[in-house]
Amino acid sequence: SQNIYILGIESSCDDTAASVIHNGNILSNVIASQKIHEEYGGVVPELASRAHQQNIVPVVDQALKKAGITKSQLHAIAFTRGPGLMGSLLVGTSFAKSLAFGLNIPLIDVNHMQAHILAHFINEAGYKKPPFPFLAMTISGGHTQIVKVSDYFDMEVIGETIDDAVGEAYDKSGKILGLGYPAGPEIDKRAQLGNPKAFKFTKPKVDGLNFSFSGLKTAILYFIQKETKANPNFIEENINDICASIQYTIIGILIDKLKLASKQTGIKHIAIGGGVSANSGIRDALKKGEQKFGWTTYVPKFEFTTDNAAMIAIVGYLKYLESDYASFNVTASARLKI
Ligand code: KG4
Ligand code: ZN
Repeated sequence: SQNIYILGIESSCDDTAASVIHNGNILSNVIASQKIHEEYGGVVPELASRAHQQNIVPVVDQALKKAGITKSQLHAIAFTRGPGLMGSLLVGTSFAKSLAFGLNIPLIDVNHMQAHILAHFINEAGYKKPPFPFLAMTISGGHTQIVKVSDYFDMEVIGETIDDAVGEAYDKSGKILGLGYPAGPEIDKRAQLGNPKAFKFTKPKVDGLNFSFSGLKTAILYFIQKETKANPNFIEENINDICASIQYTIIGILIDKLKLASKQTGIKHIAIGGGVSANSGIRDALKKGEQKFGWTTYVPKFEFTTDNAAMIAIVGYLKYLESDYASFNVTASARLKI
């Protein structure tokens, strides 16, 4: 009976993205990734907002074209309100407001962290949707959280990082090893060729379900400094084993906390999201968890796990069904909470 088209816009960090959703089905998912930051080994906020400014009109245009619709067919505009970089968020927020205002259709604000989780509810052949309640672990360059999800918009953060995000741990380790940015995929590739027990890095002691990754980065730095002093070729000669050992430590930290979260809540449906969910180590560990602990695990399609606008569009659709619209006074919020 319904025939709803919603445009989703994402601009919280360094990707300018737009997507059109028709009911629960993604018709287009366009993303302009900003290469400029690679030269700096991390996202430069000032450059990010400038690039969003350049990219947003062409990206939205392309999303509509790929979906085969015109903007007059849209029912609502959904946009990322936060959390993220203020200068980046402002570009998407202002654009979404103007477009919704011009078309005289509802504006829908979306929490980026909720969107990473609700991406699991996009209709996609071969991917199952988790039943409520489930646990969601969002792992990326910007986030590390475990969330108890009781309903679409009934979520509780039960654990999060107290310092670096897990993707940052990968990227900063990669920097120490002289790998490119972002280093996660490269470390993952090399890890699969190395011995995970070659070198031992102690796991941080953090109470409860929270995470810490900054100590690991420092431990790796000191270890590499010490070893290269004795053997200047240490990194080259051991790169695969070093990567495997780092990966083993990081995945161990994530899985320990997931095990604890599952035990504490009694929930065995476990969903992951964010760029690090592409990691082979976490995927293997989740599969083992299915056998060892009776978990059912959910990993979304890759294009819906990294920062993208399809996840914003699905939240827009779910909120549209509830007539849960934003006021035109709404402002971007860098530290928006779940
Ligand atoms: O979700 P995402 O594209 O952007 C945000 O940070 O929000 O995640 C990017 C992060 C980077 O830190 C990157 O190094 C990491 O995800 N990453 C990986 C892998 N693929 C991407 N980390 C480990 N293993 C991977 N295969
Ligand atoms: Zn994200």
